[in-house]
Amino acid sequence: MSTSQVTPLTAEDTVDVSIASAPRDIGAVPDLLKDISGLWDKYDPAADRATRLPLLEKATALAQALETPRETMLKHVGAETASFYTLTLGIEVGLFTELAKNGGSPKKSPELSAALGFDIDGLRRILRHFAAMGHIVQTGSDEWKPNNFSKSLTIPIVNGGYPFYRSVCTAPLLHMHKWMKTKGYPTPTTGKDNPFTFGNQTDQSMFEYMAAHPYLNDCFNHHMGGYRLGRPAWMDPTVYPVQDNLITNFDTSSSSSDPVFLIDIGGNYGHDLERFLDKWPSVPGRIMLQDQQSVLDNVPATLGGGRIEKFAHDFFTPQPVKGARAYYLHHILHDWPDDKCVEIVTNLKGAMTPGYSKLLVNEHVIPSVGASWEATYLDLYMMFLFGARERTEDDWKALLEGKCGLKIEKIWNPGNGVEGIIECIVEG
Ligand SMILES: C[S@@+](CC[C@H](N)C(=O)[O-])C[C@H]1O[C@@H](n2cnc3c(N)ncnc32)[C@H](O)[C@@H]1O
Repeated sequence: MSTSQVTPLTAEDTVDVSIASAPRDIGAVPDLLKDISGLWDKYDPAADRATRLPLLEKATALAQALETPRETMLKHVGAETASFYTLTLGIEVGLFTELAKNGGSPKKSPELSAALGFDIDGLRRILRHFAAMGHIVQTGSDEWKPNNFSKSLTIPIVNGGYPFYRSVCTAPLLHMHKWMKTKGYPTPTTGKDNPFTFGNQTDQSMFEYMAAHPYLNDCFNHHMGGYRLGRPAWMDPTVYPVQDNLITNFDTSSSSSDPVFLIDIGGNYGHDLERFLDKWPSVPGRIMLQDQQSVLDNVPATLGGGRIEKFAHDFFTPQPVKGARAYYLHHILHDWPDDKCVEIVTNLKGAMTPGYSKLLVNEHVIPSVGASWEATYLDLYMMFLFGARERTEDDWKALLEGKCGLKIEKIWNPGNGVEGIIECIVEG
């Protein structure tokens, strides 16, 4: 039986099998090597993203040009999948913590097996695959040490994504084709009838499901701290002018004796607010973190030096804190289809002082050409998990101005693959 019911190509269009075992584009290699050499000469650790990412892009193109379709295929269907699930297992049994002990000095399989209580045969074979894939380093026969990638897997905000994606996102992707086929290949548009609910055999939407699975919820919430690491943050002066657009005209004489400067709505463990206070420690006014109670329960009162007020709030109900200088939504609207986004924003609009309060929407603004994988992969997860999406500039205008009645003052774009700030007001 064929792998699919797709009608075969005609004889003239048939692709010759020889291309599957030849490099994908060997002719591109000389120019790519020259580009890489030139970019390496300009590499500057002080301008890491500006000089490293173009280099990485060319190096990836070089690896792809050299790799045969057969090799790519085997990585996709076997090697990378085996890596993902065994890396997750390794995280959960403490393998990477064990490897990182004593400064990450080389360790033999029997020593690791004894420390972990993990049968040596299976462990040795997993370690061998990790070394083959570049996840750890083999230092001798049956001897291993971690590299910076595997050392990072001891950090909760880096390793949390693995159990979350395995246990929450795998089943939706695994069964997505069946949901698609039964329904006639639609684009999912709701949080309740989509590959997530089908794959996980639940009638709960993703955040309801997460609240019912505390371990996975904690992993997800740590992952929220990890995905942003090392990238420009919205409050960096190179991204958004916090001083000029928020602090300078902050109204400290308003009705409240202690006015609110910034509320992070759906702010999770406060990753963004902590970063904000690191950069703007003497900002005036109150700083609030809103999320579901089940999330805030894990946030220590000492967050942000005790300056961050925790406030359980369901963003599908009216925002009770009125007239704040800024209401901030990071990776919230991308979780919801337009009709639900309208509900969330309408609940905020009622609290915003026209012409004064800002709504800062921190989301990808997908360009029409050359979208980054950092946005495209998320877009697919948003589709399959939530019936939602990452949005283009036109999508944002249609949603925030057209459907929500806000005025977009400006879209601040820090570069492809990093979320921008869509700065909105309610017109006075
Ligand atoms: C994708 S996460 C984004 C978290 C954070 N803003 C960030 O960028 O890392 C979405 C957040 O929305 C929160 N959330 C989901 N439904 C909510 C609701 N009805 N009311 C308030 N928060 C909610 C979740 O708990 C989660 O922290």
